[in-house]
Amino acid sequence: MITLGIETSCDETAVGLVEGGRAILGHSLVSSVAFHQQYGGVVPEIACRHHVELITYCVDDALRQAGLRLPDVGLVAVTYGPGLAGALLIGLAAAKSLSFGLRVPLVGVNHLQAHLYAALLGAGQSPVADRPRGPARRPTAWPARAVGLIVSGGHTALARLDGLTRYTVMGQTRDDAVGEAFDKVAKLLGLGYPGGPAIERIAAAGDPSRLAFSTPKIRGGTPWDFSFSGIKTAALRDVQQAQQAGTFDDRFRADLAASFQHAVVEELVAKGVSACRAAAARTLIVGGGVIANQVLRGRLAEACRAARIRLRMPPVALSTDNAAMVAGLGYQLHAVCGVTSPLTLTAEPNLGMR
Ligand code: KG4
Ligand code: ZN
Repeated sequence: MITLGIETSCDETAVGLVEGGRAILGHSLVSSVAFHQQYGGVVPEIACRHHVELITYCVDDALRQAGLRLPDVGLVAVTYGPGLAGALLIGLAAAKSLSFGLRVPLVGVNHLQAHLYAALLGAGQSPVADRPRGPARRPTAWPARAVGLIVSGGHTALARLDGLTRYTVMGQTRDDAVGEAFDKVAKLLGLGYPGGPAIERIAAAGDPSRLAFSTPKIRGGTPWDFSFSGIKTAALRDVQQAQQAGTFDDRFRADLAASFQHAVVEELVAKGVSACRAAAARTLIVGGGVIANQVLRGRLAEACRAARIRLRMPPVALSTDNAAMVAGLGYQLHAVCGVTSPLTLTAEPNLGMR
């Protein structure tokens, strides 16, 4: 079955065509990031205008890439949250129109869960491809005993993955999301938006031991909660001191970027591995834009190897927002779990991991 997935939760308009939940046949993505850069972050109205203008182009483009036509589509999947309310509504309107017009089912997808599913895309043939639905079917697409780590621009969380639709949140951020921390520190350093790739680029020439960022102490909550606002404030203090001392130069910026990146990466790696141990999980699945970061990928690979944990992460191209992950998870939810969403499905901007 061919699933058409739509993603419009932030500043990327994307349409993906996925067969059997795994094989990507076509994927069209246009980002409006260049139009937000002068404002230092995503402007919802600008993002929405671009979604309206681009969504039909992306549908046509994905179909053209795949050599398919609309009647070949058997299921429409769409991100319904979390994200910008207006942006989500545009994707939903497009998905409902296609579902209604083509007389095929609609399935709403949680963007955070889709980020984790991105790690499983393209990994061979789906174990459930095109088999008829049945009440006794187990969600076999998720590896057994796995922990998911979400590292995106809006969320940072660790969850035990009990099934395709069952998650037990083990910890989450108390303040900034990790991607948001990258974006804010990049702004302090005068780098553009999005900040993550810019920090990674200049950090490559920096000394990660020049500035010490201590691990945040978190009171209460769980051992797997995160906090990044302290590191960000420490970075602000270091920048101000360097500016006063006249040492705020390229060398300092590279060293601060490298030191900040090092502190954040070690925090994610330590808590990811510790959560796997606590949950007796053999697999760690990581998703979200920050897993595009090569230093994080390398350190996670090392630490998981040492702890004998299997690491699954998406290729860099599928780490940031895309529609293939939405189509893939949408297929699994529909074919494996029997989920179909009504045409009254609405946007849930604050949707969590559930
Ligand atoms: O998952 P995503 O595309 O959008 C959300 O769902 O939020 O994540 C975007 C975030 C941004 O904060 C961006 O700075 C960060 O991912 N990011 C990175 C890298 N590439 C993107 N952070 C660190 N290193 C990168 N290479
Ligand atoms: Zn995302």
